[in-house]
Amino acid sequence: MKPTDHSRLLAALAADYERHSPRSAAVNREALRYLVDGGSHAIRLLKPFPPRPVSANGAYLVDEDGHHVLDFWQGHYANILGHNPAVVTEALARSFASGSGLQTGFEDETQVRAARVLCERTGFDRVRFTSSGSLATMYATFLSRGFTGRQAVMKVGGGWHGAQPWGLVGVDYHAESAHAFEQAESRGLPHGVAEEVIVTKFNDVAMLERLFAAHGGRVACFIFEPFLGSGGFLPATREFLQAARDLTRRHGALLVFDEVISGFRFCAGSVTRTFGIQPDLATYAKVMGGGMPVAAVAGREEIMRLAGRGGGVKFSGGTYSCHPASLRASLTMMEYLVSVEQELYPRLSALAEKARAAVETAFADEGLVARCTGRGSNAIPSSSLGALQFPYDPSTPCDSPEQTRNPQVCDVELADTVLQLALLLEDVFVMHGLGAISAAHTDDDIGRLAEACRRAAKRIRAGG
Ligand SMILES: Cc1ncc(COP(=O)(O)O)c(C=O)c1O
Repeated sequence: MKPTDHSRLLAALAADYERHSPRSAAVNREALRYLVDGGSHAIRLLKPFPPRPVSANGAYLVDEDGHHVLDFWQGHYANILGHNPAVVTEALARSFASGSGLQTGFEDETQVRAARVLCERTGFDRVRFTSSGSLATMYATFLSRGFTGRQAVMKVGGGWHGAQPWGLVGVDYHAESAHAFEQAESRGLPHGVAEEVIVTKFNDVAMLERLFAAHGGRVACFIFEPFLGSGGFLPATREFLQAARDLTRRHGALLVFDEVISGFRFCAGSVTRTFGIQPDLATYAKVMGGGMPVAAVAGREEIMRLAGRGGGVKFSGGTYSCHPASLRASLTMMEYLVSVEQELYPRLSALAEKARAAVETAFADEGLVARCTGRGSNAIPSSSLGALQFPYDPSTPCDSPEQTRNPQVCDVELADTVLQLALLLEDVFVMHGLGAISAAHTDDDIGRLAEACRRAAKRIRAGG
């Protein structure tokens, strides 16, 4: 299917948005003088300009124009309790009041306690902290290559593991290419990295078997997300998870779960608790950081040992690894989530299902086929995540990134760009059509989302 041309609609929405948010527009003009594209993170810099928040509380942020924006992006899916939750801000305030927080450069007890919670809730022996998910997956790759003495990294097409060399292959869908998910996504990568990365299809057991049969002897690790994030919020099947475990073991490769999104998002710990298959290493960030830049690699002792004295893998963590204020937030968040686990996670999943269904219905009522991904599988029963797909053919299952990210199969521009702007005009912020439900969202917020979608759908149908 030839992708729909939305340029007229986008221009009309952008003009309305300029009128709707003159202060954010002004800040953007200034931002463009100093910052590349007016900011520091590509995906936030929507066109014509992003909303510029001045404060945020719970499910809402207040922007420069005084709009109270209902936010489903929630800190790149990190803010599971909503923005600035009191449980964390009060812990930080107490910490700063007692003279602790910015004395980075030492290894305090808070870190030890956080490491203990993380190990207990993930089933691993050892953890080392760092400050971003990208660094965590890069260090996990170093460890895997160092441990196995092999070069190749296997990943899933459409999987995002942050901006590090082996993660920057096979992320975006290149419709013009026969291997739509196999290209290097950046200039300046180390020579030959694209050849070192083997890209397989998510949930495709037969392809995984074929690739391991062909390349198993040179694979250092197979890294993937048990719940695929940027590929469309798709859960792994039990069969795929089991095949990944069996094949990596059989071929002497390490299994690495990238839990940057899934860690503490589905339960108070590793998502593996829902299906019981343990990898060799895993990476964590987002929710476990409590809103602060905290990430971690956790794993089996014999592998993690390589990061230590004489181990040979330069896992230095960085100046801000185990930053005291960040680890205070992280420990507070993890302990809180453990304490409310039984009540919180089922509530989030139920509200998310309401949101997914409400959005689908809102579009259906206006005659548009929208499918909300983010529902569970036979391995991961439920989730608090959602993304919206607009398949050209209503019978498309939307269960692989080869469908959800292919602009000839799904109207990707409508989901990612047009809808985001149309909903911003309703003071609702979404990413890839929806986002993450937090504990701060309510039934009323879902009603507001549905109403906003209905109005956006009318506008989309009218085409301008
Ligand atoms: C699954 C996954 N891995 C790694 C990363 C990179 O994490 P960070 O943005 O903290 O570098 C992300 C970020 O979105 C992610 O979703």
